[in-house]
Amino acid sequence: AKRIVVLISGSGSNLQALIDAIELGAINGQIVAVISNKPDVYGLTRAANAGIPSIVIDHRQFDGREPFEAELSKAINQLAPDLIVLAGFMRILNSEFVQPYEGKMLNIHPSLLPKYKGLQTHKRALENGDKEHGVSVHFVTAELDGGPVIAQRIVKVEDSDTEQSLQQKVQRQEHQLYPEVVARFCNERLSYQDGIAYLDDKPIQ
Ligand code: GAR
Repeated sequence: AKRIVVLISGSGSNLQALIDAIELGAINGQIVAVISNKPDVYGLTRAANAGIPSIVIDHRQFDGREPFEAELSKAINQLAPDLIVLAGFMRILNSEFVQPYEGKMLNIHPSLLPKYKGLQTHKRALENGDKEHGVSVHFVTAELDGGPVIAQRIVKVEDSDTEQSLQQKVQRQEHQLYPEVVARFCNERLSYQDGIAYLDDKPIQ
């Protein structure tokens, strides 16, 4: 089984979807640790409930991004993961941090990338009158939310939708999509080279 480290900053509903999929035998992997940059988030309770060790690396305890990231990579490297999964991890990462993990770090982002990199994606989709919105899973590269997309799910935007209803719709898709992509990675069907993602050795898109 592949060794998976999950990075979170919040409620951890995507972490839960991964825990559940592993319990069902749908992912050939094991979450060896959860790392959170925030001390009191519900995702840490989810990890404890599943018997998964967790580590808190509070970014506020560090004097800037570099020392925080140095501590983070030290913790990650000690765990010797095959895969690092960003699941609602809300810190921007320097290219020096990201580079050693290229091809083995995934992120889930609540928009149809390349649209709406960054924050407030649901608000921006509504403001622009988009008829379709959604979620993307991509390999993490130095460019924020800019690495090659592996898979997306689309949700329809209705006139009655609010930021909150859209977020709920998107998260329902996230909880299906992320375990599927992680399963593919763990079965060695996904790969990355020179900024391109591959499924079964064929470039994606
Ligand atoms: C998810 O909706 C994820 O797409 C988003 O944060 C949420 C975390 O929820 N990620 C980002 O916005 C990344 N910039 P969760 O903690 O319940 O999984």
